[in-house]
Amino acid sequence: MTTIRPTTIDAGTVLAADPDWWRQAAVYQVYPRSFADANGDGIGDLRGITARIPYLVELGVDAVWLSPFYPSALADGGYDVDDYRDVDPKLGTLADFDEMIAALHGAGIRLIADIVPNHSSDRHEWFREALASPPGSAARDRYIFRDGEGPDRSEPPSDWESIFGGSAWQPVGDGQFYLHLFAPEQPDLNWANRQVRDDFLATIRFWSDRGVDGFRVDVAHALAKDLTYPLRSHAELEQTRLAGDGSHPLWDREELDEIYAEWRAVFDEYDPPRTAVAEAWVAPTRRHRYAAPTSLGQAFNFDLLRANFDAAEFHEIVDRNMAFAAETGSSNTWVFSNHDVIRHATRYGLPDDDTAGYDIGKQWLFSGGVSPAVDAARGLRRARAATLFLLGLPGSAYLYQGEELGLPEVADIPDTARQDPSFFRNAGVEIGRDGCRVPLPWAADAPSYGFGPTDAAHLPQPEWFAQYAVDLQAADPNSTLTMYRRALALRHELQGPENLAWIALDHPDLLAYQRPGGWTILTNFGDAPVPLPSAFADREQVLSSGPIDDAALLPAETTIWYR
Ligand code: NOJ
Ligand code: CA
Repeated sequence: MTTIRPTTIDAGTVLAADPDWWRQAAVYQVYPRSFADANGDGIGDLRGITARIPYLVELGVDAVWLSPFYPSALADGGYDVDDYRDVDPKLGTLADFDEMIAALHGAGIRLIADIVPNHSSDRHEWFREALASPPGSAARDRYIFRDGEGPDRSEPPSDWESIFGGSAWQPVGDGQFYLHLFAPEQPDLNWANRQVRDDFLATIRFWSDRGVDGFRVDVAHALAKDLTYPLRSHAELEQTRLAGDGSHPLWDREELDEIYAEWRAVFDEYDPPRTAVAEAWVAPTRRHRYAAPTSLGQAFNFDLLRANFDAAEFHEIVDRNMAFAAETGSSNTWVFSNHDVIRHATRYGLPDDDTAGYDIGKQWLFSGGVSPAVDAARGLRRARAATLFLLGLPGSAYLYQGEELGLPEVADIPDTARQDPSFFRNAGVEIGRDGCRVPLPWAADAPSYGFGPTDAAHLPQPEWFAQYAVDLQAADPNSTLTMYRRALALRHELQGPENLAWIALDHPDLLAYQRPGGWTILTNFGDAPVPLPSAFADREQVLSSGPIDDAALLPAETTIWYR
């Protein structure tokens, strides 16, 4: 093993006005209510984050992406925003925010704020005003109100379904309905309305002026809508969505280009320009509009997250995305886990044909009782191998809090403790996303496993959380945390030009690629050891995702970094 670079960072140098800082950044997603609780009320908060900045520095991340921290009734984990230009009092104050961002910057870490433009919450002052105003009023035009159908206008305007289940239309009692693609507490904004557009430009400036370095744009592909009558049926829309040709009235429409061009103009008022990454669940071939430099500049690629743990699938996905980055001028984005999907340490332990079981629709697979018997050891082994494969790739890596601990999904949350609207609106079908949002274990032997100073945790932490605690892992040279720290420290050395060269290997389970500076990353995706290819026999092994007992063999489901 070689020495790892010290983690002390000269903030002045790191945060110099480098307009390309985002291209190969390791970005760590903080889901604020579940990260660290400073005041002991069971809800993670901004001061908790500030207190844990030394941890982030030691982990070696370049930026934090902060999930919504705005005032919210938490109908959807904060993605129901009451006020876009304030901090949720449950999480702190604007002064706490300023302190947090100053401390992050002082530690050499950038901040990406989550912005939620498709819908506000139903408690937003605009929505209250809309409800208090008559049909056809200017206040209603900021949202999407339509007359009901039927003789007494009691039927919804169409049979559209919300993403979380149930009708996408909510009646307001005067013959009109409003559209909500997500929960009823999340009314969709009308992006054809100039005030809506201007208000978001003001929000972007508000946070950029406070030092926010970039934005993660929630459901970026939903803002523009065509509600010309007659509205098409749900079945017809499904056909169009599957066709993915841009003709869907709700998703991925051309008018988005104009909206994001306005955002880009604001981003470019700053030095360095503010960045943005689109959350857009569109076909890979349709990601260009968001990743273009005239638009948001980067778009999440969820391809690896959706793939099976399989050499051929990973190979194809990397090639496709390398080509995509070259076409758009953007950089790659790699991600295995976030607050919406089953943690990858668990996903990779599902029976073989289900390792692509990423989505909330499949979460019943491992819920108590119906479980297909998750193989936790295998899940972790594969997750570690996949992570080292990912961290060597050119482009940015998006990591989700807790994955550096190899944390599994929590399946055993009692129904009474659940919070996710996808659980309540799909009773008995989906267990929702709470299992990846359980407050982190920091200390094995402390109240709330060190999440806060008291026992309180807004989602129950299982007893087995102790064994994943940060304090245990920090002291263990073989822990997942130690592996992440080493990989992130070394990663800077292989971030030259954003290219890679595959090394031809005559085995279907092996993939190897070369990066700048002579770095080579080799993965065995198979479930059996493979004789080490001769090309690697004399290479220096710097890091591996699992134990190497026999130098002549590459163990099953293992990645090695060579220099
Ligand atoms: C995507 C977010 O990641 C998810 O958590 C949220 O429920 C929806 N957008 C709606 O805002
Ligand atoms: Ca708190």
